Amino acid sequence: MGTCWPKPIDNLPSTTKFSSPDPVNDDSKTINNSNHANNNTHQIGRHSEADPNPLGEGGAGAGNGVPPSGKIITRNLKMFTLAQLKYATRNFRPDSVLGEGGFGTVYKGWIDEKTYAPSKVDVGMPVAVKKSNPDSEQGLKEWQAEVKFLGKFSHPNLVKLLGYCWEDKHFLLVYEYMQKGSLETHLFRKDVAEPFSWDTRMKIAIGAACGLAFLHTTEKQVIYRDFKAANILLDREFNAKLSDFGLAKLGPADGMSHVTTNVVGTYGYAAPEYVATGHLYLKSDVYGFGVVLLEILTGQRVLDLNRPNGQINLVDWARPFLSDKKKLRKLMDPRLEDKYPPKGAFEITQLILNCLEADQKSRPGMEEVLETLERISTIQMKPKEFKTKARRDQQPGNHHHRSPRHVHHGGGRTSRARLCDNLTAARPRFID
Ligand SMILES: Nc1ncnc2c1ncn2[C@@H]1O[C@H](COP(=O)(O)OP(=O)(O)O)[C@@H](O)[C@H]1O
Ligand SMILES: [Mg+2]
Repeated sequence: MGTCWPKPIDNLPSTTKFSSPDPVNDDSKTINNSNHANNNTHQIGRHSEADPNPLGEGGAGAGNGVPPSGKIITRNLKMFTLAQLKYATRNFRPDSVLGEGGFGTVYKGWIDEKTYAPSKVDVGMPVAVKKSNPDSEQGLKEWQAEVKFLGKFSHPNLVKLLGYCWEDKHFLLVYEYMQKGSLETHLFRKDVAEPFSWDTRMKIAIGAACGLAFLHTTEKQVIYRDFKAANILLDREFNAKLSDFGLAKLGPADGMSHVTTNVVGTYGYAAPEYVATGHLYLKSDVYGFGVVLLEILTGQRVLDLNRPNGQINLVDWARPFLSDKKKLRKLMDPRLEDKYPPKGAFEITQLILNCLEADQKSRPGMEEVLETLERISTIQMKPKEFKTKARRDQQPGNHHHRSPRHVHHGGGRTSRARLCDNLTAARPRFID
């Protein structure tokens, strides 16, 4: 798997107090085909599937309703008290909010590097503390899934879970702090000082592919199920790490090709076969990867109601451009300013098309995706391409793109635009 390697699980300092051994933007939209339709316009229904023992062996089951305070039996996670996390985040101060997802607000906090004891601002190491809505059964299920999966894995392209807190109805998770936030924040923000270069985009795509390939090839295959730009976090050097394992699911067993679940995930990123049937394949994640790769190439969100009809869905709009080399420039993020190797960009479009195949069997596996990306990342711009770019730069008023980015809406914000903002902010997800 190229640069993709797992690390041993015991990655915490030995002085850390652990619990006893052994035990789970953004613009998420609920897609749920179940009959439990609710009134939320962004959610097409919601359904809860009780897991009798969601934390695995020795874990405290929490299938029905919100359980009392408890302790999770997992090898290398620190159990924090609520008071400690209040101290670490200065009582969850609003100005320490790092982000919000479908089921939690994430705060920046500080803890001692060795003991993980809470500390004052700028003392010790920064952490991200996710606090889920205390009354949300969904929040509890996602929390359990994160502990179950992230608590078990250690990999350079998965965000590190350091500990958790479970007190009364409060469920919190403590992660390593990712300095550059989410890919979503950087990719789509218009005022970003330094847009991603081609090399950085490739690095992020490779890192994310590596994380997903690891999950797919680990002994018990794991389907991530919510692959999207908001769930890819970036460290200081723009290394990509997958976070938010709230919807992750163990892959099929007993020779089955898929698992059957209620349809949960995010509109735009969820694979068509999964949305249509509830059959979830490893290759359903590959579809989501193709969507994110397209977002990385174009700098556009997969769904944006601010764009005109016909361009709202990036995948539909981009398809004809993806298969035509001559139209490639129309697709590319203008912020790249033509500083990319056209051959490499075209090969990326072919990879995207493969990942977005309607038939999941025709999509490549994540290891193949990773290998292809690594090969493409070695393709450099040729001297004559630099010259062409220089010539273009000299032509006055040369704005070649018809990318949806350049669509301007006259006057004030439309109700459609507001709806889009709501969708982006609320991040409803559909759960099983
Ligand atoms: N470890 C982290 N470091 C920095 N920012 C983070 C971290 N974890 C989450 N965030 C921010 O919070 C947002 C929501 O986090 P996420 O785990 O996806 O929550 P949810 O489960 O509610 O969707 C992310 O998109 C990111 O902006
Ligand atoms: Mg999220």
